[in-house]
Amino acid sequence: MPELKPVTLTTERLELRWMDERDIEGHYAVFSDPVVARYWSSEPWTDIEQARQGIAATMAAYADGSGVRFGIVLRESGELIGNVSLHHFFEQNRRCDIGYALASKHWGQGYATEALRVAIRYGFDALNLNRIEADIDPRNVGSGRVLEKVGFRKEGYMPERWFVFGEFADTVNYGLLRRYWD
Ligand SMILES: CC(C)(COP(=O)(O)OP(=O)(O)OC[C@H]1O[C@@H](n2cnc3c(N)ncnc32)[C@H](O)[C@@H]1OP(=O)(O)O)[C@@H](O)C(=O)NCCC(=O)NCCS
Repeated sequence: MPELKPVTLTTERLELRWMDERDIEGHYAVFSDPVVARYWSSEPWTDIEQARQGIAATMAAYADGSGVRFGIVLRESGELIGNVSLHHFFEQNRRCDIGYALASKHWGQGYATEALRVAIRYGFDALNLNRIEADIDPRNVGSGRVLEKVGFRKEGYMPERWFVFGEFADTVNYGLLRRYWD
């Protein structure tokens, strides 16, 4: 991977910028919401220390070149409404994973689709990736729809891959190749 340098990406309605300490409260607000966490790989946060640790891990990933997490900000109001990350960079194979979450009051307005498009463009153009992978719960229909809208293809199914909310949860694997995108 090229050396990671702070960058701001803009779309019609959104600004995506690297998250840092100023985002601890906003980050906590997103991941402490049980509606947001329902199909996440861990249960809702209950202590702001979890957000502090999450941001610290994000900043460590900038430093060691293993990932970036963009805060998704509404340009009109400056409100932080969620995040999208490109992480687990695997340099030899030019691939990484993608993750994303939006505060639930902002769902259904096309923001995730808009944010993913510009983050993926950054991954393919600036980071020279060839492949981006996503792993979602098959019950997370909205998430699957967002991935398909931006060009991901369903590639696999892994039963009982996670144990969360007191039950095993399955994974649907999605992949996006640079040549699908181009
Ligand atoms: C997944 C998530 C990011 C989507 O954000 P969003 O801004 O609402 O997404 P968009 O508005 O860009 O697109 C959502 C699409 O899914 C569709 N959708 C949403 N819920 C749906 C459902 N239950 N059934 C069918 N379609 C659904 C919407 O209609 C829309 O498709 P359309 O444009 O064709 O109408 C958001 O719901 C979220 O943060 N969820 C919690 C965190 C999470 O699960 N992240 C992904 C984990 S891998």
